[in-house]
Amino acid sequence: MQLFIEETYEDMSRRAADLIAAQLIVDPASTLGLATGSTPIGLYADLVEDFQADRISFEQVTTFNLDEYRGLSPEHDQSYRYFMQKNLFDHVDIDPEATSVPDGANPDAQAACESYEQAISEAGGIDLQLLGLGHNGHIGFNEPCDHFPVRTHEVALTESTRRANARFFAGEDEVPTAAYTMGVGTVMAARRVLMIVTGADKADILHRAFCGPVTPWVPASILQFHPDVTLICDEAAWSGMKA
Ligand code: GLP
Repeated sequence: MQLFIEETYEDMSRRAADLIAAQLIVDPASTLGLATGSTPIGLYADLVEDFQADRISFEQVTTFNLDEYRGLSPEHDQSYRYFMQKNLFDHVDIDPEATSVPDGANPDAQAACESYEQAISEAGGIDLQLLGLGHNGHIGFNEPCDHFPVRTHEVALTESTRRANARFFAGEDEVPTAAYTMGVGTVMAARRVLMIVTGADKADILHRAFCGPVTPWVPASILQFHPDVTLICDEAAWSGMKA
């Protein structure tokens, strides 16, 4: 594993943007796996800045997002499609047709998930997958459970995740109860994985993910088996590793 411990959130974001920019410079037709949540907001702002400064282009890039709430339309301001438009896609030269987010508006979970998985494989798989880390160790929306779900699937969100994400909605009752997410196997099939983690509140779970046993009860721990993982965190998140 490659590790970068940065002093601040801003430094973490810049370092991660540099890595993604480098990927696009080496292979302008890269397929990126993208993540949502509050953690990557700074990184996306930095990528927009890089694009505006003519350092990178998304013209030939293809993207697949990790997950989407089930039941939210792309126009819903808490859908992950909306998040991606506002934080990245609307500000760069990416072809809208080349951006994919699971179709949360499709009530047919099996069809939505199978077609997503197929689209990823038709694109030749993911070159670089960006990941955040949930407080309970989830990646995408792969929640702790007794096995590692392999492919894109529907998942019931845990109470702790719904509570954590309630801050973005009018209240906890408004948070959808289910989502479509890439599976742990989909993530593990990416050629490179880039995880970003920020804040003291993630210190404990970061330690469990990379220093504890590999277990589906901490889904991110499977990354210990991935051959090409880069972890970029700030010092606050790293503080648990020194314990
Ligand atoms: C969300 C997303 C994840 C994200 C995680 C952490 O629920 N489904 O992809 O990485 O939780 O979010 P945050 O960065 O806001 O802590």
